[in-house]
Amino acid sequence: MRTYLVTGGAGFIGSNYIHYMFDKYGDSIRIINVDKLTYAGNLENLKDIENRDNYTFVKADICDKEAIEKIFAENDIDRVVHFAAESHVDRSIRNPEIFVKTNVLGTAVMLNAAKAAWENPDGTFKEDKRFLHVSTDEVYGSLPDDESAFFYETTPIDPHSPYSSSKAGSDMLVKAYIDTYHFPANITNCSNNYGPYQFPEKLIPLIINNALAGKKLPVYGDGKNVRDWLYVMDHAKGIDMVQENGRLGERYNIGGHNEKQNIEIINIIIETLQELLPDSDPRKKNVSKDLITYVEDRKGHDRRYAIAPDKIKEELGWYPETMFKDGIRLTIKWYLENMEWMENVTSGDYQKYYEAMYSGR
Ligand code: NAD
Ligand code: TYD
Repeated sequence: MRTYLVTGGAGFIGSNYIHYMFDKYGDSIRIINVDKLTYAGNLENLKDIENRDNYTFVKADICDKEAIEKIFAENDIDRVVHFAAESHVDRSIRNPEIFVKTNVLGTAVMLNAAKAAWENPDGTFKEDKRFLHVSTDEVYGSLPDDESAFFYETTPIDPHSPYSSSKAGSDMLVKAYIDTYHFPANITNCSNNYGPYQFPEKLIPLIINNALAGKKLPVYGDGKNVRDWLYVMDHAKGIDMVQENGRLGERYNIGGHNEKQNIEIINIIIETLQELLPDSDPRKKNVSKDLITYVEDRKGHDRRYAIAPDKIKEELGWYPETMFKDGIRLTIKWYLENMEWMENVTSGDYQKYYEAMYSGR
């Protein structure tokens, strides 16, 4: 049975990926989820799978060399899928250090531990071992408003925020391991994800949450910054395809050609909420475009991101299955049906879930 070590599996993309993998492979794989459970990690995201025999949760910091080496020593790991990171740009502007620590140093610890476990005495690597580093399109910097400009795998790295710089640093480390040791790894650079279980500090869940509560909807700058939105399960599918069939040592961009200005996204969310909420729901009267409030721009705000996914399409046959109009409805419906999740997350109550679930284990 193939064993996966997933880092950051209690976060937004990691938990969706774990669901995707169990749906796809069932009992034929084993997953070990290593997560420090920062404010962004929430085990409630994995409630429905936590009792599976082929799933294990380990609470550990990826910067903790001993803890990570112990996991490799006790398990024959075949695949590493490395999601764990500090992921929010605004937080990185306020406090860059933790981004450098987790994203750069943590990745170095993961690479070293995997290399030590997988390396043969002659410097080659054991058969069928693979490390996938999950990264972002933000490492490429910012594109102009010109709609013919895209990020390719060959686009020079040019990050601007402390978050994207730390991710670029971690990409470079993975590249160094590939170039120096022929370490069996891939890097994926994905555009903005959306879907269930996203922490409401990011644009889409923040707008849903604020609109339902009748709170202001903060739009940074002129609202015309463009992001290329991808449904999270399409990202999970792309990661699995790269890990199974990607050429070792290669970088793959993942994105769905779904560019939208932030203000368009906000308008779509308000319109969809108005449509989905029944008249009897008291929150419906709160949801209004009057809540839109232009606020001071984010420092160093990247103007436009847009991925050219040609390589992953041509080499691996990946394509985004979920149209934005369907994905955003699914996402909004999920938040409406999971208000308790949102309340727990915003109040910090989800931290208690870990204590209740795992005390004494
Ligand atoms: P997230 O913030 O929702 O989750 C991050 C997870 O990592 C959390 O569970 C957290 O507890 C865990 N974590 C943080 N520091 C840790 C540490 N030191 N040790 C162990 N675990 C730790 O992030 P996300 O949005 O799910 O992003 C996952 C990955 O995908 C990140 O590497 C991010 O850079 C990348 N990515 C995200 C997007 C996006 O739109 N969200 C797009 C492209 C790439
Ligand atoms: P975000 O979800 O933080 O993702 P990223 O910065 O990694 O792309 O932000 C998406 C876009 O939305 C970005 O251009 C910043 C903007 N934004 C707002 O206008 N208001 C907000 O309250 C937030 C969180 C983001």
